[in-house]
Amino acid sequence: MHASPLNDQVLLVTGGAGFIGANFVLEWIAERKGTIVNLDKLTYAGNRASLAALDNHPRHIFVEGDIANTALTSELLRTYQPAAIVNFAAETHVDRSLHGPEDFMQTNVIGTSRLLEAARAYSNGLPVAGQKAFRFLHISTDEVYGSLEPGAPAFTENSPYLPNSPYAASKAASDHLVRAWHQTYGLPALTINSSNNYGPCQLPEKLIPLIINNALAGKGLPVYGDGLQIRDWLYVGDHCAAIRRVLDAGRIGETYNVGGGNETRNIDLVIMLCNMLDQMRPLPKGGTYSAQIAHVADRPGHDRRYAIDSSKIESELGWKPKESFTSGIRKTVEWYLDNLDWMQDATGETYRQWIETNYALRPKVPA
Ligand code: NAD
Ligand code: TYD
Repeated sequence: MHASPLNDQVLLVTGGAGFIGANFVLEWIAERKGTIVNLDKLTYAGNRASLAALDNHPRHIFVEGDIANTALTSELLRTYQPAAIVNFAAETHVDRSLHGPEDFMQTNVIGTSRLLEAARAYSNGLPVAGQKAFRFLHISTDEVYGSLEPGAPAFTENSPYLPNSPYAASKAASDHLVRAWHQTYGLPALTINSSNNYGPCQLPEKLIPLIINNALAGKGLPVYGDGLQIRDWLYVGDHCAAIRRVLDAGRIGETYNVGGGNETRNIDLVIMLCNMLDQMRPLPKGGTYSAQIAHVADRPGHDRRYAIDSSKIESELGWKPKESFTSGIRKTVEWYLDNLDWMQDATGETYRQWIETNYALRPKVPA
């Protein structure tokens, strides 16, 4: 078992019914000995089915609620006395932020500031040893750095903040709040900025599970614009390992960039998914899923390229991604094929409404 001081301690995890949060909670419970208090508002993105393996688990306490509810977070902190908070809770989908930025400001900015305040009051009331050991780990994104030109060096922790979407701007604001609470009040905070995650339990509004879901349903595979935008894909299990490493050994007040080292053009990724599905779930009448690809109108303000330089976490904390892109994507496709019930559960009426809103008005465009 791991020699971390947090090994048998209580953690307060927020947003633990979402994609990355659920993967983190499942892995932590499997690997460590402590209890997780999982606070999640269960927005459209929260899914209890992702946590089904923990139903009635004695070390998983699920609480439905909002990080912006200070009375609730303060009570949870008082009652469970966590040694750390890991803040995943956020509105996370860029396309939704274009349609309605308000929720992003409410949770990502106001919610984070209230959680920071509750954490500050709680940690100030701890005995000295508890105060020294306490950690507030904020989970953020590479999108705060904006878009890279072709050939430009990958984002480091010192890259300027140049967010381009309401989502990215709200996450940038939350990162600044975390920094300020550390600088001003000495809150022992750390931040991770990671690249695009992929893996089990991701809602099929995001590219990879959306393509798998649409392919299997015989629907169009929407590629925004020319499809030459680049993302640096990180397997969610590798991200969770980085989070554990930063919790255990990260330096207070620091930020750590975490990337998969897999810069890939969207169109190449979609073709890769189609090729895997052709092998793993051949079309009954032959042919290829690639025939379903449809280029559609681009996202306004679409960032062209993200790439992360992970050398700080690699050299300081010895973290490296374990999964290659091919092995990670294969595992992911296998997971969705093996969990069609989960997919069905995640793509109900609310999901259908979103798909209608986002795609109905996007005309097809030439490749
Ligand atoms: P997600 O959208 O899948 O899940 C978010 C979760 O937060 C949901 O369970 C939702 O119910 C919950 N939530 C939303 N508002 C809340 C509130 N006010 N109070 C409590 N819970 C609330 O998101 P994800 O992809 O798992 O991302 C988790 C975190 O990681 C986010 O902060 C995101 O910005 C960051 N991140 C994500 C990626 C990615 O590729 N998915 C990459 C980098 C960083
Ligand atoms: P997404 O998974 O939404 O993550 P983000 O916008 O945070 O990077 O999208 C990943 C990339 O895929 C991004 O460049 C937008 C593109 N994309 C499509 O081409 N088609 C789609 O239907 C979606 C949802 C995304």
